[in-house]
Amino acid sequence: MSAATKPLPKSVLISESCLQQRIRELGAQIFADYENQELVLLGVLRGSVLFFADLSRAIFSAQLENITREVQIRFEFVQLTSYHNNTQPSAVELIRSGSNYLKQRHILIVEDIVDTGQTLDFLCEHLWTLNPKTVKVCTLLDKPSKRRVPVPIDYIGFEVPDAFIVGYGLDYAQQYRNLPYIALLEST
Ligand code: PRP
Repeated sequence: MSAATKPLPKSVLISESCLQQRIRELGAQIFADYENQELVLLGVLRGSVLFFADLSRAIFSAQLENITREVQIRFEFVQLTSYHNNTQPSAVELIRSGSNYLKQRHILIVEDIVDTGQTLDFLCEHLWTLNPKTVKVCTLLDKPSKRRVPVPIDYIGFEVPDAFIVGYGLDYAQQYRNLPYIALLEST
């Protein structure tokens, strides 16, 4: 892709400070909900990486303010991909499965964005075959206007409009994932 044709992030939709403030709130809420339990944070590669890292530290920060209580956190990851063909709008495929450790555990799926809901729907169905104790979902961004499959979401950072957004894990052609904020992408 040449520099001349490459779309550029146009304007900041959610600033770095807004993201971090909301993630601190989510961390405190998750800490309270899973107090004195073990929780498997299940990151969905690749988009959730930055959110996953900051959320896990926010849960720890909440613990620092409650020294008599704790949440034991374990990291696990899955990777999925969507593809399109002529017979169905899109299908999801598992590239990397979670480990055997998910059996009889409390699992919190950590996503960067829920769009059509197909990835999450597929992942939840897969996870239930692994016999976990509970499965909940935390997504930084929710785009309900694009939903095709109803999916339950337990923790939402921000609702976003139907626009192409990048940054903080979200990409355009694998670019811009390392922006520390969420930006709208210029279309021309
Ligand atoms: C993105 C995002 C979610 C999924 C949401 O992943 O990270 O996993 O799409 O879309 P949906 O609700 O329509 O299923 P993507 O497949 O782009 O891979 P990536 O995480 O590697 O960017």
